[in-house]
Amino acid sequence: MNKVLALFAGILFSVHGFVVAQQQKISIIPAPKSVSMGSGHFELSAGTPIIAVSEDARKSAALFNQFLHARHGLTLKTSLIALPGKTIVLEESENFASEEGYSLEVETDKIIITGNKAGLFYGLQSLLQLIKNKDGSLQVPVLAIEDEPAFGYRGIMLDVSRHFFTTDQIKKMLDLMAYFKFNRMHWHLTEDQGWRLEIKKYPKLTQVSAWRDSTIIGQYYDFKPFIYDGKPHGGYYTQEEAKDIVRYAADRQITVIPEIELPGHSSAVLAAYPEFGSFEVKDGKALPGSIAAVNDKGEPHDNDLSQAVPGYWGVHYNIYGPTEKAYGFLEDVLTEVMDIFPSEYIHIGGDEVPKDHWMTSDIAQKVIKKEKLADEHELQSFFIRRIEKFLNKNGRKLIGWDEILEGGLAPNATVMSWRGEKGGIAAAKMGHDVIMTPNSHLYFDHYQAADKTTEPLAIGGFLPLEKVYSYSPVPDTLNVDERKYVLGVQANLWTEYIPTINKMEYFLFPRALALAEVAWMDREEKNFEEFSQERLPSRLKELEEMDVFYRIPEAQVQISKDEASGRHLVNIVPLVAQSKVYYTLDGHKADQTSNLYTGPFLAPIPGQDQDPLTLNYTVVTPKGRSSNQFSVEINRP
Ligand code: ACM
Repeated sequence: MNKVLALFAGILFSVHGFVVAQQQKISIIPAPKSVSMGSGHFELSAGTPIIAVSEDARKSAALFNQFLHARHGLTLKTSLIALPGKTIVLEESENFASEEGYSLEVETDKIIITGNKAGLFYGLQSLLQLIKNKDGSLQVPVLAIEDEPAFGYRGIMLDVSRHFFTTDQIKKMLDLMAYFKFNRMHWHLTEDQGWRLEIKKYPKLTQVSAWRDSTIIGQYYDFKPFIYDGKPHGGYYTQEEAKDIVRYAADRQITVIPEIELPGHSSAVLAAYPEFGSFEVKDGKALPGSIAAVNDKGEPHDNDLSQAVPGYWGVHYNIYGPTEKAYGFLEDVLTEVMDIFPSEYIHIGGDEVPKDHWMTSDIAQKVIKKEKLADEHELQSFFIRRIEKFLNKNGRKLIGWDEILEGGLAPNATVMSWRGEKGGIAAAKMGHDVIMTPNSHLYFDHYQAADKTTEPLAIGGFLPLEKVYSYSPVPDTLNVDERKYVLGVQANLWTEYIPTINKMEYFLFPRALALAEVAWMDREEKNFEEFSQERLPSRLKELEEMDVFYRIPEAQVQISKDEASGRHLVNIVPLVAQSKVYYTLDGHKADQTSNLYTGPFLAPIPGQDQDPLTLNYTVVTPKGRSSNQFSVEINRP
């Protein structure tokens, strides 16, 4: 870097990424830590070799080439030895300060990327994002970047249990995650509604637990009684397929963290293997215990011992029993899981465990007595500690949702804080590692508009882009020592209402781009205006070219008073590059038959007794996809 700075002394200016991006229109997401712009550009051509000596560098160069070919129809040669002329040099450096940091220096005749293994990969992702096609010439601006992430854990959780996604669909998501410098995919593989991983010792998991006969239609609250679609749904990944995903992700510097839910969210398993539940089994059927189940009003209720994989959502009663049989099963499963997934973390769920079965089970009550536990919460903690011991013995670490704090946290556990930040704060104060994934800011299954009628069906909530962007993973209430336990952030994509790849992409993007900056950038360097207006537009245009069905966001609409006329001046800035905006002001639908926005205009003034006007508009992307209709009130000036 110093070398390059010296080279450009006098013409370089060095400021934080976002200011430069604004001036020079470089649009890397997440924005690099520092960028120094020079003048001129490097031109990429078929004759530009990539010098990559180490195996890691060559692997990353190969992936760079794949992308370059797909996006720009160009494939570069790689060379093990230095060559004269214009080259891209990847210098793997063990001594680079940050594991994931890199420097990227672009001169008119040379590009040099330096970093550790992951750093080189990220340097290449930044380089890809810098390439501009100008009249058929692929140009990279002369600059110097120094970059490293703020957080070591930058994740997205995908629930494949509520709805199954193919390995190709997951690979597409991994490609996109890598492009925006995410490094963890949390794979939610088991649920009440489906088990998704081949386990050789327990074939019924894939013969029975992986399939449901039918799924409810509409929102959970739409129809009572529920209406079912009458269509079987399911699927699973063979161990070979799962290993292939692990390899594919690892090549892209992403660790796959498998989640095997326990002791709750296990109805699908217990449909096939009722003997791992909390009750005695006779003739293949679980029998209720001698203690009657009552709800919190003291009314008797059905403990739901049905042996079908449920096709409706919500929290289910059927949970594992605290028995040697169940521990044995889980340890067998985890043994196969550890063989597939090299991840240090194994996620064991631990969330939303209704205690009804344990309260009504003679078997569970005996354990509580024998182990001198205070209640069912302590029994849950006892259960999870036992699993933690097993994982630790095998060199792995347990991570679980924040309910694992209830009844006492297992000694070495990491907490994923989802019910807000409370659990994460408590865990950090106890000296446990934490991943922040609060449902207030990072639940990507939530709606993206306040007016739900304009959006596809979602689980609920309202999580606009700006709110994701505003998130800061380290709570102010933690002191300096405690802050280091917050390892990073993750968004969760639960898929009860997300059955298709288009819908998956719609819920992930562009919110994942906002999250990428939350995870990579220091809090004080983030700037939503600059992100959304200066860098997001070209990335969204690119996502469309990459066939990603992102949600087209609302434009920035500025309404100011025009002093000369006394009328409102309306300025509309769409957030997709080269998109068009069509609008109406008469309260009627806006579509491609409406007024084409060509620049700021003066709004009509409603009469004294008339309602304010509504600006309706739709954004149409370069490839012709229309956004939802958006509405903004224009009050009387
Ligand atoms: C969760 O949303 N139940 C972790």
